[in-house]
Amino acid sequence: MAAMPRNKSRRFITLEGGEGTGKSTLQSGLFDALFARRETVILTREPGGTPLAEMVRNLALHPPDGQTWSPLAEALLMNAARADHLEKVIRPALQQNHWVICDRFADSTLAYQSANGGVSQMLLKYMEDAVLGDTRPDLTIILDAGPETTLARRAARNETADAFEARDDGFHKSVRDTFLEIAHADPDRCVVIDAQQSAERVLKECLAIIECRFMTPES
Ligand code: TYD
Repeated sequence: MAAMPRNKSRRFITLEGGEGTGKSTLQSGLFDALFARRETVILTREPGGTPLAEMVRNLALHPPDGQTWSPLAEALLMNAARADHLEKVIRPALQQNHWVICDRFADSTLAYQSANGGVSQMLLKYMEDAVLGDTRPDLTIILDAGPETTLARRAARNETADAFEARDDGFHKSVRDTFLEIAHADPDRCVVIDAQQSAERVLKECLAIIECRFMTPES
């Protein structure tokens, strides 16, 4: 018999954390596990997820040589892309009762665009409220790892650093700290997972959480 979600039928999961914490690997592992249970799962990412938002992603992550965005301009770009993504992909999928698993979402804006004296978190929250409305993630998995792990994984990817990866250690520490603060402030929505474990263990822990939160019938 099909299991019913515990409290609500919405299944909007976001994956957050610094670079090189294994979000993409986790996302595809979750897809395989849910697909095997005949669930319809939409995988998407931010910035991006629609043709227009992917164009914004390219502008934000790969500005022309010598050009940089201010943190405020970055925050506006991320929110513009998010508004399009919510309208065209996320809300329609949730309305059809599909799972949506998004690689990064609004918590990334709070963590990255406020880092190192960027935009105030209060202003970022105003923007977030305006763009999200009541479409909030039901579960946010924050993959947490120290700089040793993330640096090694980023180096192993052997890609040219984008505008964010190229920033200094203090920036990445601030991003990590903000993610942990977000999790602390919103424990009903967020779980922090130790991303220094193997990918298999991370997936297993996350599946157990999903099972418990969405698939265990109410007693
Ligand atoms: P991506 O290659 O997807 O990073 P990762 O592999 O770590 O997930 O690049 C996305 C980058 O965009 C990442 O460095 C974080 C940054 N970002 C923001 O600064 N603000 C945001 O709101 C989002 C969604 C991403």
